[in-house]
Amino acid sequence: MSETPYQFTDRRGLPKASLYRELHTEFTGLVGTRWLANCANLSSLLYQHLPDLNWAGFYLADESSHLRLGPFHGLPACLDIPISRGVCGAAARTREIQIVPDVEQFPGHIACDARSRSEIVLPILLHRGRTNEKLLGVLDLDSPLPNRFDNMDAEGLQLLIDVLVEKSKWPSRWSDVL
Ligand code: SME
Repeated sequence: MSETPYQFTDRRGLPKASLYRELHTEFTGLVGTRWLANCANLSSLLYQHLPDLNWAGFYLADESSHLRLGPFHGLPACLDIPISRGVCGAAARTREIQIVPDVEQFPGHIACDARSRSEIVLPILLHRGRTNEKLLGVLDLDSPLPNRFDNMDAEGLQLLIDVLVEKSKWPSRWSDVL
């Protein structure tokens, strides 16, 4: 595991918790019911406002064992990720947030952008924690710096995903749209 310390520096000097609160307010004001527009806007908000990212976006879980590329900001990325592979696959399989401080130490990491050094991937779950819980996809954030993400990122991003999941109307069958 890499020991390089990461110093979070917001453009306006905001502490990380305040930045996530602002993003939450902004996204709550922006969100509608269309899942595609909401995912596009959230990937834009994150990419524009969170420092030290080289990729922010969605992979969606259709009825196959693959994750399909959704709205994102950053370099063009892999179209499909088998659920058995990569950090995104691990988040989808385990339905748990994955924080990877050094992608080179993660077996099976998929390098869509060779600059990525660390990443965080959160599962997106409809009816989270209930018996009818359903995996909708994952949110993937990549950084060119090691150790970029911590539990505060996980908490802030989870609150944004909660807004996304609650407000969006999701398709009943992904295979019709992906
Ligand atoms: N980071 C991912 C692959 C997707 S790209 O980095 C956009 C992974 O290893 O799961």
